[in-house]
Amino acid sequence: MEYVNNELCLGPLKKALLPLCANYMRPIYVYDLDFISQRYQAMKRALGPTRLFYAVKANPNVEILQRLKRLGAGADVVSLGEIKRALESGFSVQDIVYSGVGKTRHEITEALKLGIYQINVESLPELERIGSLAKSMGKKASVALRLNPDIDIKTHPYIATGLKDNKFGMELSLIPELVKCLKSHEDSIELVGVSLHLGSMMMEFSGYKEALQILKKIYVDLQKQFPTLKRFDFGGGLGIFYDRLDLELEESLLRDYAKITLETLSDLNCELQSEPGRWLVGHCGALITQVQYIKKTSAKTFLVVDSGMNHLIRPSLYEADHLILPLVKSQENMKADVVGPICESSDFFAKDRTLGKVSEGDFVAVMDSGAYGYSMASVYNLQELPLEICI
Ligand code: LLP
Repeated sequence: MEYVNNELCLGPLKKALLPLCANYMRPIYVYDLDFISQRYQAMKRALGPTRLFYAVKANPNVEILQRLKRLGAGADVVSLGEIKRALESGFSVQDIVYSGVGKTRHEITEALKLGIYQINVESLPELERIGSLAKSMGKKASVALRLNPDIDIKTHPYIATGLKDNKFGMELSLIPELVKCLKSHEDSIELVGVSLHLGSMMMEFSGYKEALQILKKIYVDLQKQFPTLKRFDFGGGLGIFYDRLDLELEESLLRDYAKITLETLSDLNCELQSEPGRWLVGHCGALITQVQYIKKTSAKTFLVVDSGMNHLIRPSLYEADHLILPLVKSQENMKADVVGPICESSDFFAKDRTLGKVSEGDFVAVMDSGAYGYSMASVYNLQELPLEICI
């Protein structure tokens, strides 16, 4: 992000945001598709032979999905809704990896009918359910076992998934039972992969490396019993910076991550898969909102805007600090809590934040909100959902 002639611009092609507000009606999520292409290509280059399955939950916008499909991505989905969205956007069933701890009978049946490429299984009862449903339908399910190695990647507790007290994946001690179950369902289940996802906003990779090494051994052992095993899915979770835009530093972290991954897994002779979400789309989106009031109390100045936790819940939920920038550059600064219209004290974008001085009617952009922004938005207080514009 950068100001050109005092106007805030998004992405490497410096696309101006103010013109989008000419007929402003309500908050707008704006996404720069070329920026997404650039991120995808950078990740693809770094991860070499790995097939990238974009985590649709990060942002299921159809134009974004179409763009990623065109670039060669697959889709990582976690519900029938996301399967349908991926198919509508041009992905084929052969492009879809289906994860999630709570797949219902209906969802599994639909996935089997469609012939989804890979189902990442998260529990023994789910594996049993897939086996019996596939059998009754005369189908063979292609599954990967999502394993949970109980490793801490030092992220916010709400987005860690690879610890033993997380609901995700399966404990390693369960493997003998999983093997038994797979053998008893050998007509209806084909084991094709092992999968891993330790959590989101990973910025340091020692735990990740340890997890890869553990899973690699398991992969080798399992392959002796299941020669159909051929894919290693090492998940998503690579983090981005929210307090600054430093693409070079992020690309150097990406290279470290890729090096660890490719070196650790190089001798496996398997198909590598990844499920990135945030890294591809996070920086490429901004939420534009209009200042309604500057409200001063004896304790604070509140910048009351027309968007809030209903549109971007990350600050309230994870204390995420998104940069907030006026669309027109200001020479002066102000210090304020940036808050929304929702009737909750947790409805804030920032607290005691120094930002460019703005007045009633001005627009500000909550930056880096392309991932887990609109996809987590709600209609709480019956506020309308924001608009979405791709540029
Ligand atoms: N694969 C699986 C199985 C996942 O559960 C997730 C994210 C991903 C891939 C993609 O992770 P990413 O590369 O985007 O970090 N709402 C939170 C993030 C929740 C992530 C959920 N799972 C946030 O706003 O920070």
